[in-house]
Amino acid sequence: MLEVVNTTTIVTELGLDPAVDRHAEFAAELRTGLARVEEKLQEVLRSPGHPELTEAATHLVRAGGKRLRPVMALAGAAFGDGRGDPISAAALVELIHVATLYHDDVMDEAPMRHGVTSANSLWGNRKAVLIGDYVLACAARVGAGLGDYALRSQAQTFGRLVRGQFLETTGPFEDCGRHAPYEHHIQVMADKSASLIALAGRLGAQVSGADERTIETLGRYGELIGVAFQISDDVLDISASTTDLGKSAGTDLREGIVTLPMLHALDDEGPGAGRLREIIGHGPVSDPMIRQEALGLLRESAGVVRALAEAHGYAAKARDLALSLPDRPARALLVGLSAFVVDRGE
Ligand code: FPP
Ligand code: MG
Repeated sequence: MLEVVNTTTIVTELGLDPAVDRHAEFAAELRTGLARVEEKLQEVLRSPGHPELTEAATHLVRAGGKRLRPVMALAGAAFGDGRGDPISAAALVELIHVATLYHDDVMDEAPMRHGVTSANSLWGNRKAVLIGDYVLACAARVGAGLGDYALRSQAQTFGRLVRGQFLETTGPFEDCGRHAPYEHHIQVMADKSASLIALAGRLGAQVSGADERTIETLGRYGELIGVAFQISDDVLDISASTTDLGKSAGTDLREGIVTLPMLHALDDEGPGAGRLREIIGHGPVSDPMIRQEALGLLRESAGVVRALAEAHGYAAKARDLALSLPDRPARALLVGLSAFVVDRGE
Protein backbone atom coordinates (compact mmCIF):
# COMPACT_ATOMS: atom_id res chain seq x y z
CA MET A 1 0.00 0.00 0.00
CA LEU A 2 2.19 2.84 1.17
CA GLU A 3 5.65 3.12 -0.19
CA VAL A 4 8.03 5.66 1.20
CA VAL A 5 9.29 6.93 -2.11
CA ASN A 6 12.85 8.02 -2.56
CA THR A 7 13.95 10.34 -5.32
CA THR A 8 15.11 7.51 -7.56
CA THR A 9 11.68 5.91 -7.47
CA ILE A 10 9.92 9.19 -8.03
CA VAL A 11 11.98 9.80 -11.15
CA THR A 12 11.80 6.33 -12.67
CA GLU A 13 8.28 5.31 -11.78
CA LEU A 14 6.34 8.44 -12.56
CA GLY A 15 5.18 8.11 -16.09
CA LEU A 16 8.67 8.07 -17.60
CA ASP A 17 9.52 5.17 -19.88
CA PRO A 18 13.24 4.30 -19.75
CA ALA A 19 12.91 2.65 -23.19
CA VAL A 20 12.05 6.03 -24.74
CA ASP A 21 15.29 7.93 -25.32
CA ARG A 22 14.03 11.41 -24.47
CA HIS A 23 12.36 10.09 -21.32
CA ALA A 24 15.56 8.35 -20.22
CA GLU A 25 17.49 11.58 -20.87
CA PHE A 26 15.00 13.63 -18.88
CA ALA A 27 15.09 11.09 -16.01
CA ALA A 28 18.90 11.41 -15.90
CA GLU A 29 18.65 15.24 -15.92
CA LEU A 30 16.09 15.12 -13.15
CA ARG A 31 18.27 12.86 -11.03
CA THR A 32 21.25 15.18 -11.48
CA GLY A 33 19.02 18.17 -10.70
CA LEU A 34 17.70 16.55 -7.53
CA ALA A 35 21.24 15.71 -6.38
CA ARG A 36 22.15 19.40 -6.86
CA VAL A 37 19.07 20.42 -4.89
CA GLU A 38 20.27 18.24 -1.98
CA GLU A 39 23.65 20.00 -2.03
CA LYS A 40 21.97 23.39 -2.20
CA LEU A 41 19.73 22.58 0.79
CA GLN A 42 22.75 21.65 2.93
CA GLU A 43 24.68 24.72 1.77
CA VAL A 44 21.85 27.19 2.38
CA LEU A 45 21.04 25.83 5.85
CA ARG A 46 24.64 25.93 7.08
CA SER A 47 25.11 28.51 9.84
CA PRO A 48 28.88 29.12 9.94
CA GLY A 49 30.23 28.98 13.48
CA HIS A 50 27.00 27.46 14.85
CA PRO A 51 27.23 23.70 14.41
CA GLU A 52 24.20 23.02 16.66
CA LEU A 53 21.94 25.24 14.56
CA THR A 54 23.28 23.71 11.34
CA GLU A 55 22.69 20.23 12.75
CA ALA A 56 19.15 21.05 13.89
CA ALA A 57 18.17 22.87 10.67
CA THR A 58 19.42 20.06 8.44
CA HIS A 59 17.86 17.36 10.64
CA LEU A 60 14.64 16.97 8.64
CA VAL A 61 16.36 17.47 5.28
CA ARG A 62 18.78 14.64 6.10
CA ALA A 63 15.85 12.44 7.19
CA GLY A 64 14.62 12.41 3.58
CA GLY A 65 11.13 12.68 2.19
CA LYS A 66 9.68 12.33 -1.26
CA ARG A 67 10.99 15.67 -2.60
CA LEU A 68 7.66 16.08 -4.36
CA ARG A 69 7.99 19.87 -4.48
CA PRO A 70 11.52 19.94 -5.97
CA VAL A 71 10.36 17.35 -8.54
CA MET A 72 7.47 19.69 -9.43
CA ALA A 73 9.82 22.67 -9.71
CA LEU A 74 12.24 20.80 -11.97
CA ALA A 75 9.38 19.43 -14.07
CA GLY A 76 8.07 23.00 -14.42
CA ALA A 77 11.54 24.18 -15.44
CA ALA A 78 11.60 21.58 -18.21
CA PHE A 79 8.89 23.64 -19.99
CA GLY A 80 11.23 26.64 -20.13
CA ASP A 81 14.10 27.44 -22.40
CA GLY A 82 16.93 26.33 -20.14
CA ARG A 83 17.77 29.73 -18.63
CA GLY A 84 17.50 30.75 -14.96
CA ASP A 85 18.17 28.86 -11.75
CA PRO A 86 15.60 26.08 -11.27
CA ILE A 87 17.82 24.39 -8.65
CA SER A 88 17.32 27.41 -6.36
CA ALA A 89 13.58 27.42 -7.12
CA ALA A 90 13.42 23.70 -6.20
CA ALA A 91 15.47 24.26 -3.03
CA LEU A 92 13.27 27.24 -2.07
CA VAL A 93 10.02 25.26 -2.15
CA GLU A 94 11.54 22.35 -0.22
CA LEU A 95 12.90 24.75 2.42
CA ILE A 96 9.46 26.31 2.87
CA HIS A 97 7.98 22.82 3.17
CA VAL A 98 10.56 21.71 5.73
CA ALA A 99 10.03 24.90 7.77
CA THR A 100 6.29 24.16 7.97
CA LEU A 101 7.05 20.61 9.13
CA TYR A 102 9.12 21.84 12.11
CA HIS A 103 6.16 24.02 13.13
CA ASP A 104 3.50 21.43 12.31
CA ASP A 105 5.25 18.83 14.50
CA VAL A 106 5.23 21.25 17.42
CA MET A 107 1.50 21.87 16.93
CA ASP A 108 0.82 18.11 16.58
CA GLU A 109 3.20 17.18 19.44
CA ALA A 110 4.50 14.66 16.90
CA PRO A 111 7.20 12.28 18.14
CA MET A 112 8.40 11.28 14.68
CA ARG A 113 8.83 12.69 11.16
CA HIS A 114 10.26 10.96 8.08
CA GLY A 115 11.10 7.94 10.23
CA VAL A 116 13.33 9.89 12.65
CA THR A 117 12.73 11.53 16.03
CA SER A 118 11.05 14.90 15.51
CA ALA A 119 12.89 18.15 16.29
CA ASN A 120 10.42 18.97 19.07
CA SER A 121 11.13 15.63 20.75
CA LEU A 122 14.89 16.06 20.39
CA TRP A 123 15.25 19.73 21.35
CA GLY A 124 11.90 20.82 22.80
CA ASN A 125 9.16 23.05 21.37
CA ARG A 126 10.90 26.37 21.89
CA LYS A 127 13.93 25.39 19.86
CA ALA A 128 11.87 23.52 17.25
CA VAL A 129 9.84 26.69 16.54
CA LEU A 130 13.05 28.70 16.19
CA ILE A 131 14.61 26.08 13.91
CA GLY A 132 11.52 26.31 11.68
CA ASP A 133 11.87 30.11 11.69
CA TYR A 134 15.53 29.80 10.76
CA VAL A 135 14.73 27.44 7.85
CA LEU A 136 12.08 29.92 6.69
CA ALA A 137 14.63 32.75 6.83
CA CYS A 138 17.01 30.65 4.71
CA ALA A 139 14.17 30.07 2.24
CA ALA A 140 13.46 33.81 2.05
CA ARG A 141 17.15 34.42 1.25
CA VAL A 142 16.99 31.95 -1.64
CA GLY A 143 13.73 33.54 -2.85
CA ALA A 144 15.29 37.02 -2.76
CA GLY A 145 17.91 35.81 -5.23
CA LEU A 146 15.22 34.69 -7.70
CA GLY A 147 13.63 38.05 -8.38
CA ASP A 148 10.31 39.82 -7.96
CA TYR A 149 8.00 37.04 -9.11
CA ALA A 150 9.56 34.59 -6.62
CA LEU A 151 9.41 37.12 -3.78
CA ARG A 152 5.78 38.02 -4.40
CA SER A 153 4.69 34.41 -4.89
CA GLN A 154 6.60 33.25 -1.84
CA ALA A 155 4.96 35.92 0.36
CA GLN A 156 1.52 34.98 -0.96
CA THR A 157 2.18 31.28 -0.35
CA PHE A 158 3.40 31.90 3.24
CA GLY A 159 0.08 33.64 3.86
CA ARG A 160 -1.92 30.76 2.46
CA LEU A 161 0.07 28.12 4.38
CA VAL A 162 -0.55 29.91 7.65
CA ARG A 163 -4.21 30.56 6.81
CA GLY A 164 -4.73 26.87 5.98
CA GLN A 165 -3.10 25.77 9.22
CA PHE A 166 -5.09 28.40 11.14
CA LEU A 167 -8.41 27.32 9.63
CA GLU A 168 -7.54 23.70 10.37
CA THR A 169 -6.87 24.64 13.99
CA THR A 170 -10.16 26.55 14.19
CA GLY A 171 -11.92 23.44 12.93
CA PRO A 172 -14.96 23.07 10.68
CA PHE A 173 -17.47 23.42 13.46
CA GLU A 174 -16.10 26.69 14.90
CA ASP A 175 -15.75 28.51 11.62
CA CYS A 176 -18.22 31.23 12.69
CA GLY A 177 -20.60 29.88 10.07
CA ARG A 178 -18.52 31.27 7.22
CA HIS A 179 -18.04 27.87 5.62
CA ALA A 180 -19.93 24.62 5.83
CA PRO A 181 -17.64 21.86 7.21
CA TYR A 182 -16.98 20.34 3.79
CA GLU A 183 -16.07 23.67 2.15
CA HIS A 184 -14.02 24.56 5.20
CA HIS A 185 -11.93 21.44 4.81
CA ILE A 186 -11.42 21.89 1.05
CA GLN A 187 -10.16 25.41 1.78
CA VAL A 188 -7.81 24.05 4.48
CA MET A 189 -6.31 21.52 2.06
CA ALA A 190 -5.97 24.03 -0.76
CA ASP A 191 -4.18 26.51 1.48
CA LYS A 192 -2.00 24.38 3.71
CA SER A 193 -0.90 21.85 1.05
CA ALA A 194 -1.85 22.67 -2.52
CA SER A 195 -0.59 26.27 -2.44
CA LEU A 196 3.04 25.22 -2.07
CA ILE A 197 2.84 22.38 -4.61
CA ALA A 198 1.33 24.88 -7.06
CA LEU A 199 4.08 27.39 -6.30
CA ALA A 200 6.71 24.73 -7.02
CA GLY A 201 5.57 24.09 -10.59
CA ARG A 202 4.88 27.76 -11.34
CA LEU A 203 8.18 28.98 -9.99
CA GLY A 204 10.28 26.32 -11.70
CA ALA A 205 8.64 27.27 -14.98
CA GLN A 206 8.85 31.03 -14.41
CA VAL A 207 12.55 31.17 -13.52
CA SER A 208 13.29 29.01 -16.57
CA GLY A 209 11.51 31.28 -19.02
CA ALA A 210 8.35 29.24 -19.72
CA ASP A 211 5.42 31.12 -21.26
CA GLU A 212 2.57 32.60 -19.19
CA ARG A 213 0.01 29.99 -20.20
CA THR A 214 2.29 27.11 -19.12
CA ILE A 215 3.05 28.81 -15.80
CA GLU A 216 -0.64 29.32 -15.12
CA THR A 217 -1.51 25.73 -16.14
CA LEU A 218 1.19 24.35 -13.85
CA GLY A 219 -0.25 26.44 -11.02
CA ARG A 220 -3.73 25.01 -11.56
CA TYR A 221 -2.30 21.50 -11.91
CA GLY A 222 -0.48 21.91 -8.57
CA GLU A 223 -3.64 23.15 -6.84
CA LEU A 224 -5.44 19.99 -7.98
CA ILE A 225 -2.80 17.38 -7.18
CA GLY A 226 -2.14 19.19 -3.91
CA VAL A 227 -5.70 18.57 -2.74
CA ALA A 228 -5.56 14.96 -4.02
CA PHE A 229 -2.26 14.49 -2.16
CA GLN A 230 -3.64 15.90 1.10
CA ILE A 231 -6.76 13.71 0.93
CA SER A 232 -4.60 10.62 0.49
CA ASP A 233 -2.37 11.82 3.37
CA ASP A 234 -5.45 12.11 5.58
CA VAL A 235 -6.60 8.63 4.51
CA LEU A 236 -3.15 7.23 5.34
CA ASP A 237 -3.36 8.78 8.82
CA ILE A 238 -6.36 6.48 9.31
CA SER A 239 -5.41 3.39 7.35
CA ALA A 240 -1.60 3.05 7.50
CA SER A 241 0.70 1.95 10.30
CA THR A 242 3.17 4.22 12.07
CA THR A 243 6.04 2.08 10.74
CA ASP A 244 4.91 2.49 7.13
CA LEU A 245 4.27 6.20 7.56
CA GLY A 246 7.50 7.12 9.36
CA LYS A 247 5.27 9.34 11.54
CA SER A 248 2.53 8.59 14.08
CA ALA A 249 -0.70 7.27 12.61
CA GLY A 250 -3.94 8.59 14.13
CA THR A 251 -2.46 12.06 14.75
CA ASP A 252 -5.49 13.86 13.31
CA LEU A 253 -7.80 12.17 15.83
CA ARG A 254 -5.37 12.84 18.67
CA GLU A 255 -5.22 16.52 17.72
CA GLY A 256 -8.96 16.87 17.09
CA ILE A 257 -8.45 17.62 13.37
CA VAL A 258 -11.51 16.61 11.37
CA THR A 259 -10.32 15.45 7.93
CA LEU A 260 -12.31 14.67 4.78
CA PRO A 261 -12.67 10.89 5.37
CA MET A 262 -13.88 11.70 8.88
CA LEU A 263 -16.42 14.25 7.65
CA HIS A 264 -17.82 11.66 5.25
CA ALA A 265 -17.85 8.96 7.93
CA LEU A 266 -19.72 11.30 10.29
CA ASP A 267 -22.39 11.74 7.62
CA ASP A 268 -23.01 7.97 7.41
CA GLU A 269 -26.03 6.23 8.85
CA GLY A 270 -25.83 3.40 11.35
CA PRO A 271 -24.35 2.65 14.79
CA GLY A 272 -20.70 3.05 13.69
CA ALA A 273 -21.33 6.62 12.54
CA GLY A 274 -23.31 7.34 15.71
CA ARG A 275 -20.44 6.19 17.89
CA LEU A 276 -17.96 8.21 15.77
CA ARG A 277 -20.06 11.34 16.22
CA GLU A 278 -19.93 10.72 19.97
CA ILE A 279 -16.14 10.30 19.96
CA ILE A 280 -15.10 12.96 17.42
CA GLY A 281 -17.74 15.44 18.55
CA HIS A 282 -15.84 15.94 21.82
CA GLY A 283 -12.68 17.24 20.15
CA PRO A 284 -9.19 15.70 20.52
CA VAL A 285 -9.26 11.96 21.22
CA SER A 286 -6.50 11.64 23.81
CA ASP A 287 -7.32 8.16 25.15
CA PRO A 288 -5.33 5.64 23.03
CA MET A 289 -8.00 2.92 23.46
CA ILE A 290 -10.79 5.17 22.23
CA ARG A 291 -8.56 6.38 19.42
CA GLN A 292 -8.03 2.77 18.32
CA GLU A 293 -11.78 2.21 18.44
CA ALA A 294 -12.37 5.34 16.31
CA LEU A 295 -9.66 4.30 13.85
CA GLY A 296 -11.33 0.88 13.51
CA LEU A 297 -14.73 2.50 12.87
CA LEU A 298 -13.24 4.93 10.36
CA ARG A 299 -11.47 2.13 8.47
CA GLU A 300 -14.75 0.24 8.16
CA SER A 301 -16.74 3.33 7.23
CA ALA A 302 -17.59 4.52 3.74
CA GLY A 303 -15.74 7.75 4.57
CA VAL A 304 -12.36 6.45 3.40
CA VAL A 305 -13.80 5.15 0.13
CA ARG A 306 -15.66 8.40 -0.55
CA ALA A 307 -12.64 10.54 0.26
CA LEU A 308 -10.42 8.46 -2.05
CA ALA A 309 -13.00 8.73 -4.83
CA GLU A 310 -12.84 12.49 -4.45
CA ALA A 311 -9.05 12.39 -4.54
CA HIS A 312 -9.31 10.46 -7.82
CA GLY A 313 -11.60 13.18 -9.17
CA TYR A 314 -9.02 15.90 -8.40
CA ALA A 315 -6.23 13.74 -9.85
CA ALA A 316 -8.18 13.10 -13.07
CA LYS A 317 -8.67 16.87 -13.57
CA ALA A 318 -4.95 17.40 -12.94
CA ARG A 319 -4.13 14.72 -15.52
CA ASP A 320 -6.31 16.45 -18.13
CA LEU A 321 -4.59 19.75 -17.45
CA ALA A 322 -1.16 18.10 -17.73
CA LEU A 323 -2.16 16.72 -21.12
CA SER A 324 -2.86 20.27 -22.32
CA LEU A 325 0.81 21.18 -21.75
CA PRO A 326 3.43 21.04 -24.51
CA ASP A 327 4.44 17.48 -25.38
CA ARG A 328 7.71 17.11 -23.48
CA PRO A 329 8.93 14.28 -21.21
CA ALA A 330 8.05 16.45 -18.19
CA ARG A 331 4.42 16.19 -19.29
CA ALA A 332 4.58 12.37 -18.98
CA LEU A 333 6.03 12.82 -15.50
CA LEU A 334 3.16 15.10 -14.47
CA VAL A 335 0.63 12.59 -15.80
CA GLY A 336 2.37 9.88 -13.74
CA LEU A 337 2.48 12.13 -10.69
CA SER A 338 -1.28 12.71 -10.85
CA ALA A 339 -1.77 8.94 -10.43
CA PHE A 340 0.94 8.58 -7.80
CA VAL A 341 -0.55 11.15 -5.41
CA VAL A 342 -3.71 9.09 -5.04
CA ASP A 343 -2.39 5.53 -5.51
CA ARG A 344 -0.17 5.87 -2.44
CA GLY A 345 -3.34 6.16 -0.32
CA GLU A 346 -4.74 2.80 -1.46
C1 FPP B 1 1.54 19.01 7.33
O1 FPP B 1 0.23 18.55 7.10
C2 FPP B 1 1.55 20.51 7.43
C3 FPP B 1 1.35 21.37 6.42
C4 FPP B 1 1.10 20.87 5.06
C5 FPP B 1 1.32 22.84 6.58
C6 FPP B 1 1.82 23.37 7.89
C7 FPP B 1 1.74 24.87 7.94
C8 FPP B 1 2.14 25.59 8.98
C9 FPP B 1 2.73 24.99 10.22
C10 FPP B 1 2.01 27.07 8.92
C11 FPP B 1 3.37 27.72 9.15
C12 FPP B 1 3.85 28.24 7.88
C13 FPP B 1 5.12 28.64 7.60
C14 FPP B 1 5.32 29.42 6.37
C15 FPP B 1 6.30 28.29 8.44
P1 FPP B 1 -0.46 17.45 8.02
O2 FPP B 1 -0.36 17.87 9.44
O3 FPP B 1 -1.80 17.17 7.46
O4 FPP B 1 0.45 16.20 7.70
P2 FPP B 1 1.37 15.29 8.61
O5 FPP B 1 0.56 14.09 8.86
O6 FPP B 1 2.55 15.01 7.73
O7 FPP B 1 1.72 16.04 9.85
MG1 MG C 1 0.67 17.23 11.02
